[in-house]
Amino acid sequence: MRAWAPERVAEAAGARLVAPAPARGGDPGPARAVIDSRAAGPGDLFVGLAGATADGGRFAPQALAAGAWGALVAPEHAEAARRAAPGVLLAAADPLAALQALARAWRRALGARVLAITGSTGKTSTKDILAAVLSERLRTVASPENLNTEIGLPLAVLEAPDATEALVLELAMRGAGQIAELAAIAEPDVGVIVNVGPVHLELLGSLEAIAAAKAELIAALAPGTTAVVPAGEPLLVPHLRSDLRTVTFGPGGEVRLAAGPPPAAADHPLDDRAPVRIAAGDQQVELQPNFASAHQLQNLLAAVAAAGALGVVPSGRLDVAFSAWRGDRVALPGGIVIINDCYNANPMSMAAALDDLAAGAPGRRVAVLGDMLELGPAEADYHRELGTRAARAGVGVLVAVGPLARGAARAFGEAGEVHAVDSAEQAAELTARLVGSGDTVLIKGSRGVGLEIVAERLLAERDGPLGPAPDRGDKARTA
Ligand SMILES: Nc1ncnc2c1ncn2[C@@H]1O[C@H](COP(=O)(O)OP(=O)(O)OP(=O)(O)O)[C@@H](O)[C@H]1O
Ligand SMILES: [Mg+2]
Repeated sequence: MRAWAPERVAEAAGARLVAPAPARGGDPGPARAVIDSRAAGPGDLFVGLAGATADGGRFAPQALAAGAWGALVAPEHAEAARRAAPGVLLAAADPLAALQALARAWRRALGARVLAITGSTGKTSTKDILAAVLSERLRTVASPENLNTEIGLPLAVLEAPDATEALVLELAMRGAGQIAELAAIAEPDVGVIVNVGPVHLELLGSLEAIAAAKAELIAALAPGTTAVVPAGEPLLVPHLRSDLRTVTFGPGGEVRLAAGPPPAAADHPLDDRAPVRIAAGDQQVELQPNFASAHQLQNLLAAVAAAGALGVVPSGRLDVAFSAWRGDRVALPGGIVIINDCYNANPMSMAAALDDLAAGAPGRRVAVLGDMLELGPAEADYHRELGTRAARAGVGVLVAVGPLARGAARAFGEAGEVHAVDSAEQAAELTARLVGSGDTVLIKGSRGVGLEIVAERLLAERDGPLGPAPDRGDKARTA
């Protein structure tokens, strides 16, 4: 919005311009919006939102004193802010609605194509992969980290600079209607549903209801635009539309891993990455991604399908900077490998992570698995199933963390060594003592279990590097 004068910003936000721009050199408009006054600085529009504990509007003086371009607040905060420091001052009865309106206006003003990603599991990963694929050819901006809510998404849109050609956005789902609300801001040209599964099940009650919520993205697409969906997902079939281009991905889909043996790594003597061959309609795509797990390859197929809608066909090396704690593999001395997948967990992603452990662990398999939260009445069944799956994945040592995970430990039975503990702290102590040379250690549980301290402990004991903590600011709660 650099070129937007204060009057234009006010109009786009549906806000009243209380104080015009002070005479300052430089761009007339802001470069981005922020909701944390401590993060505000020159070029920023501070938006004061009413939160659960504090009303952000009270902090407008601090934001302006820090040199913010301006502030957008509820009318009752405008006078105090005006007296405090110079800066553009905008007042709106509902600052969140104003932020969203501003984002929608900026999305319309941008020449960019917008690709929106939702799904039960793997949204951020698919967003990161798609951004990497597109950025080879287009000036691409993606939602930072996990900014995917009714607050985070507008912030992500407003961060896109003028010259953006492709804007990749993550859309969260916390209940019916949320994706529709986000899609109405994003107005996507391409809508991607990564998958449908039992995540936040207690909110919606059934898989059909979860599918219907995800499908709000399909319903929001303009005729002639593109929907990317998993091939053969029966839950989405009732929601498909004949007036869209629909591209399916995954086994049996239009974009799928090509049959036959993968191209030999020896064909790429300078690189030891496993090459991946993808059939995308009538095109053959050959890639060397810096990841190999089956679920990330599935996300890659979704990304290739979405990129294809913009005419972008990738080839060669693909380097994706995944967000932290999404299955980061860290090698430690003694042939120990830590798979730090502690960002979140649900039945789908637990299954994927256990499959990945089974496929990629040369020695003993250790799984530190925490509770999967927010599953509703069927939670005990899902945890029993988890224990059975861990046994099938050849886990040699299971450390179950939390009251629900105890059920997984019971179902695991005598498939291997098994421990059940109550907290992440206890799991960290125990795992540090258990792990030995050659072990591959998967660490995964819902966010509320806080299993990162298990990874931190293992890495610290062995002098390994610590990954950065993920996510800042606004994001949807993740289970
Ligand atoms: N396609 C997939 N199928 C199953 N599990 C997956 C898939 N992609 C990623 N995962 C697992 O889900 C975890 C979280 O991935 P990611 O952060 O991309 O999901 P998300 O949908 O953005 O989550 P959130 O709802 O918290 O935003 C990963 O660490 C991995 O274990
Ligand atoms: Mg996410």
